[in-house]
Amino acid sequence: ARREQANGHKSAVLWFTGLSGAGKSTIAHATEESLHRLGCRTYVLDGDNVRHGLCGDLGFSIEDRHENIRRIGEMAKLFADAGIVTLTAFISPLRADRDRVRRLAGADFIEIYCRCPIEVCEERDAKGLYKKARAGEIKDFTGVSSPYEEPDNPELVLDSSRMTIEE
Ligand code: ADX
Repeated sequence: ARREQANGHKSAVLWFTGLSGAGKSTIAHATEESLHRLGCRTYVLDGDNVRHGLCGDLGFSIEDRHENIRRIGEMAKLFADAGIVTLTAFISPLRADRDRVRRLAGADFIEIYCRCPIEVCEERDAKGLYKKARAGEIKDFTGVSSPYEEPDNPELVLDSSRMTIEE
C-alpha cells in the first residue's frame, strides 16, 4: 500500500495473451508508453527480455511453456508487489496456466486477449516462423501444431486485425 501511495497509482498485472503475431508485444509497449506519459511506473516483460535470460533453458513443449508461464507469473507478481504496472506479452496458450497466474496475482490481474485470426497472423509472419512451421521445420508451433486455448472471460478483448494500435 505504501509503495502504491508513493507512486500515486495502483500496481497491476496486464496480461496479454494470443497467437504469435497477434500484436501482444506491440500493444503492450504502446500501452506502456501511454502510461509512462501519465507518470506511471511500468515495465514490459516479453520474449525479448525473458526468453533469452530467465527462461533461456526452456523450449516450446507443453511442459516448457507451463514452466515459462509459471516463472513469468511469479515474476509479474513480484513486480506488481514492488508497485509497478507490469505488462506481460506471452502466448500463454493454456487456460489453466493463465488462471493459475490470475489466482497468484490476486485482484489486480487484467487479462487482455489479443484476438487475431490465425490467417492474419500468418500473413504478417514478421519472423517467418509460420512458414517454417507449415514446412515442418519448427515443431509444436502454436496454432499450427500446438494448441491455443482462448480465454473464457478476459477483462478485455482486442482484435488487431480490426483495430489500430491507438484504438
Ligand atoms: S509461450 O507459449 O511459452 O507463452 P512465448 O510467448 O514465451 O510462448 O514465446 C512465443 C514466441 O516464440 C513466438 O512469438 C515466436 O516468435 C517464438 N517461437 C519459437 N518457436 C515457437 C513455437 N514452437 N511456438 C510458438 N512460438 C514460437
